[in-house]
Amino acid sequence: MSAVLMDGKVLGKKIRESVKTRSASLREKGIIPCLAVVLAGEDPASMSYVNSKEKALTEAGMDSRDIRLPYGIEEADLLSIIADLNKDDKIHGILVQLPLPDHINEEKITSAIDPGKDVDCFHPVSVGNMVLGRQAFLPCTPHGILVLLGEYNVPVCGSHVVVAGRSNIVGKPLMNLLIRKEYNATVTLCHTGTKDLARFLQQADIIIAAAGKPGLITPAMVREGAAVIDVGINRVQDSASKKGYILCGDVDPAVAEKAAFFSPVPGGVGPMTIAMLLQNVAESAEKRL
Ligand code: GUN
Repeated sequence: MSAVLMDGKVLGKKIRESVKTRSASLREKGIIPCLAVVLAGEDPASMSYVNSKEKALTEAGMDSRDIRLPYGIEEADLLSIIADLNKDDKIHGILVQLPLPDHINEEKITSAIDPGKDVDCFHPVSVGNMVLGRQAFLPCTPHGILVLLGEYNVPVCGSHVVVAGRSNIVGKPLMNLLIRKEYNATVTLCHTGTKDLARFLQQADIIIAAAGKPGLITPAMVREGAAVIDVGINRVQDSASKKGYILCGDVDPAVAEKAAFFSPVPGGVGPMTIAMLLQNVAESAEKRL
């Protein structure tokens, strides 16, 4: 068997086109959707993500308020910037790129963002509302994964989904969305404390790899006909490549020979995260109408 490749680039573009239409209609009504993008420090991976997000915003007819801060910024100064953005009527969403510099308390910062502008769904109130099925922006990467599965008609209802990785950004929120009645999946969440990961993966109808460990999932761990979504973004040193590194996921791409569906890195979930972010900004701006 050779897997159907799940193309997040094509689907992401389609979604961004529809956001562009929403954005044009908002502009006609005098609202320019605007996301504040805050980056502290110069971590190359974060800079690259932030640049991609800002480019996508511009292409969708949205504004971005680009706030680049030195690594050494004081926590109190960052909190004061966020307080100003919370008050600013021109700003519809606030994204503080993680990870933050080591001396800054990430919880304090994410808790300072107005939940009404929390398009990442990182504030504890947003997370609580999301878990309870109440009004909240849906977290971008988990939502992107669900939309990608839907686009390829991968059956989720009644399926056994095994998620590898318990991060606050992917594993935990994804588990919570998958158990909603509308998705009705049975979820097993594996993590670094899981004994014999392969035993769980082999029982999965859908595997979602979000552990941040290159090559974690090999073909032997995957059931014939499963759907495999790779969410890992790992920079692996490679002197043969121009950049000095290559991007690879958590999954050995050879699983494509056994799986029925495979979402690879790059080109799978990454572009979906950005598309969902833009949707959240549009939704937030539309609330002003
Ligand atoms: N760092 C890694 N992924 C993300 C994300 O989706 N949002 C933010 N703000 N930071 C991240």
